[in-house]
Amino acid sequence: MTIPAVKVSDISKNYGSLKALSHVDFSIDKGSFFGLLGPNGAGKSTLINIMAGLTHASDGNIDVMGNDVRRKWRKARNALGVVPQELAYDPFFSARQMLRLQSGYFGLGSGNYPWIDELLERLDLGGKADENMMKLSGGMKRRVLIAQALVHKPSVVVLDEPTAGVDVQLRKVLWEFTRELHGDGHTILLTTHYLEEAEALCEKIAILDHGKLIANETTKSLLSRYPYSYLHLELKDSSSALPEKIRDMAVSFKGRNVTLRLHREKDRIGNILEALYAAKVSFSDLRTEVPGLEEIFISLTGENND
Ligand SMILES: Nc1ncnc2c1ncn2[C@@H]1O[C@H](COP(=O)(O)OP(=O)(O)O)[C@@H](O)[C@H]1O
Ligand SMILES: [Mg+2]
Repeated sequence: MTIPAVKVSDISKNYGSLKALSHVDFSIDKGSFFGLLGPNGAGKSTLINIMAGLTHASDGNIDVMGNDVRRKWRKARNALGVVPQELAYDPFFSARQMLRLQSGYFGLGSGNYPWIDELLERLDLGGKADENMMKLSGGMKRRVLIAQALVHKPSVVVLDEPTAGVDVQLRKVLWEFTRELHGDGHTILLTTHYLEEAEALCEKIAILDHGKLIANETTKSLLSRYPYSYLHLELKDSSSALPEKIRDMAVSFKGRNVTLRLHREKDRIGNILEALYAAKVSFSDLRTEVPGLEEIFISLTGENND
C-alpha cells in the first residue's frame, strides 16, 4: 500500500472550551487535487496550521508524505508548501529577497536562484521582483506568497482560501496555476468556502463544519447526494389547473411562477411537458436549474453555509 500524501489521524484541537477540531480523520492520496470545504470558522486554517507545525493539535497526529509533523517535523516541513490565508510579509524586503530568504531557510543556496527566477516569471512578478513588498498590490502580494510556498519544490501544496477577496482575473490565474501544479505531479490541498470552486477543481472533497468532518468523498459522489434539479415555469395564466401529477412535484407557487423539483433519474422533462400539453396548460418561460454543492451542504448540515 502506498502511503498517502497527507494523513490526518483523529485530530482534535481545543482553544479553551472551543472545540475548533474534533476527531478529524481523513487521507489525501498522492498526486490528487483535494478540496477542504467549510464555512468560516469551520476549522480549515487550524488544521492547516497543525499540518505546517505552526500550532499543535490537542490530540491526534498528521503525517505529510509519511512524516509525522511533530516527530519528523523537518522532513514534514520540507514536503509541504503552504500559501497562508493571511497576507504576512516584511514590507522592507522585495519579492526576490523574500524568496531567497525562504529558500535559505530550507537550506538551499544560490543553486536555487534560477528556480526562484522561474517562479517570479510564471507568476508574472518579473517586473516587480525587486520592489519593496509594501509597494505591491494585494493581488501581487498573494502571488509572492504562492511563489514562497513553492520555493523548495514541495510535493504537497496547500492553498488556504487563495481566492477569498481576489478579483476575477487573479482568480482565473490562480485556478490555472494550481491546475498546472497538479499536472506537474504535486498533490494539492485547496481550502475554500466557494463551493463552485471546489466543484470545478477538486477530485475529492472533505467538508468541515464546526470542527467536525461531515463528508469525505469524490466530488462526483458528493454531487449525487442531492439527486434533484429544478424546473422553473412561468405559466401564461395563473389560474391554469395543473395536472395532479405535476402539482405534486411543485415546491413553490408564486403567481404565475411555479417551481418543480425533479429527480435526476426518475423524472424526465419530456414527460412533464407532455403532461402539461395534455392538460392544455401553456407557459411563457421555462428554465432548469442544476444544484451545486450549496444544496449538498444544506442537505448535509440542515443549514445554509453563509
Ligand atoms: N489562536 C486562536 N485562539 C482561539 N481561537 C481560535 C484561534 N484560531 C482559531 N480560533 C477559532 O477556531 C475556530 C476555527 O477557526 P479557523 O480554523 O480559522 O476556521 P476557518 O479557517 O475554517 O475559517 C474559530 O471559531 C476560530 O475563532
Ligand atoms: Mg481559514
